Amino acid sequence: SDSLTPFEALGGEDKLSELVDIFYRNVSEDPLLHPIFPDHLGETARKQKQFLTQFLGGPALYTEEHGHPMLRARHMPFEITPARAEAWLSCMDRAMDEAEVEDPVREHIFTRLSYTAKHMVNTPEE
Ligand code: HEM
Repeated sequence: SDSLTPFEALGGEDKLSELVDIFYRNVSEDPLLHPIFPDHLGETARKQKQFLTQFLGGPALYTEEHGHPMLRARHMPFEITPARAEAWLSCMDRAMDEAEVEDPVREHIFTRLSYTAKHMVNTPEE
């Protein structure tokens, strides 16, 4: 129905959790992303599940625990180049394939993530 949030259309908490776990497995294997992430991605994945839940119209889990997301500011300690933004999106695209996230919600989510990823870029290409 048109009244579903993207979070609900995706399949709720279980589907989001599956998607994020696959995404960080891809990140851990990516040569451009791996060096800037912690060795253990459990806590990163936990925060990303909270963030994406609220980003997609579910409960405000991230803000309840961490306050305003201020995502661009929280990413400033890391050199986020255009190539790293593309790598991040590629990890997500492949995670959506594997988790079998289907259109139209897939297209909707990926478009919004593409916009956000480009907004995170804070370092020019070398
Ligand atoms: C945290 C990289 C895009 C959401 C992080 C961290 C890194 C990172 C290195 C720190 C991980 C940690 O210390 O646990 C990147 C890169 C991106 C990108 C290279 C490429 C553009 C995004 C996008 C989103 C996002 C598009 C949201 C849709 C988050 C969140 C956190 C995070 C919620 C946790 C913040 C916190 O510590 O509370 N990211 N990120 N990131 N990222 Fe990204």
